[in-house]
Amino acid sequence: MGLKVVVTGGSGFIGSHVVDALVAAGHAVTIIDHRVAPHRRDVEFEDVDLLDLASVVAVLRGADHVFHLGAVANVNYAFKYPVYTASLNVMGTTNILEAARIVGFASFAEYSLATKMARSVGEVETFLRVISPWERDHLLLNV
Ligand SMILES: NC(=O)c1ccc[n+]([C@@H]2O[C@H](COP(=O)([O-])OP(=O)(O)OC[C@H]3O[C@@H](n4cnc5c(N)ncnc54)[C@H](O)[C@@H]3O)[C@@H](O)[C@H]2O)c1
Repeated sequence: MGLKVVVTGGSGFIGSHVVDALVAAGHAVTIIDHRVAPHRRDVEFEDVDLLDLASVVAVLRGADHVFHLGAVANVNYAFKYPVYTASLNVMGTTNILEAARIVGFASFAEYSLATKMARSVGEVETFLRVISPWERDHLLLNV
């Protein structure tokens, strides 16, 4: 039986391929994206801003897993809007980690130049609770 999987940024380049692979594997997919509709209709779509923690938590409840790919990835856009880029890439990722902790996920996965592996919930809690805020910020700036 397939899992219920949330993909943030599922309407984007990497996310859409992750969605295709998950659907092909028989999983039920919910996409979180903002103002950009998904490329296929056989998935759930939640138009949610990753900076809205309460809405992110609401979408993650009842799901088994999240792949986090919502971000500003376009370098030209990042140069033009550095404050928004930092806000989304740092706080959006923090919100997903916090939502995963609140909901009690078994695992969390994101794909960035810094981290290309799934993390256990224990590691997520370590990430959020044990390391200092300075270390957390340093890591998130590498997302
Ligand atoms: N493209 C690559 O070759 C590549 C390589 C390595 C890592 N990555 C990483 O993968 C991730 C995704 O990259 P991509 O190339 O697919 O980017 P993309 O721009 O194609 O996709 C990002 C998605 O995030 C969504 N998004 C933006 N703001 C949002 C918000 N406030 N709330 C919800 N969704 C929002 C966008 O609408 C878009 O669909 C990034 O973290 C990027 O650094 C990409």
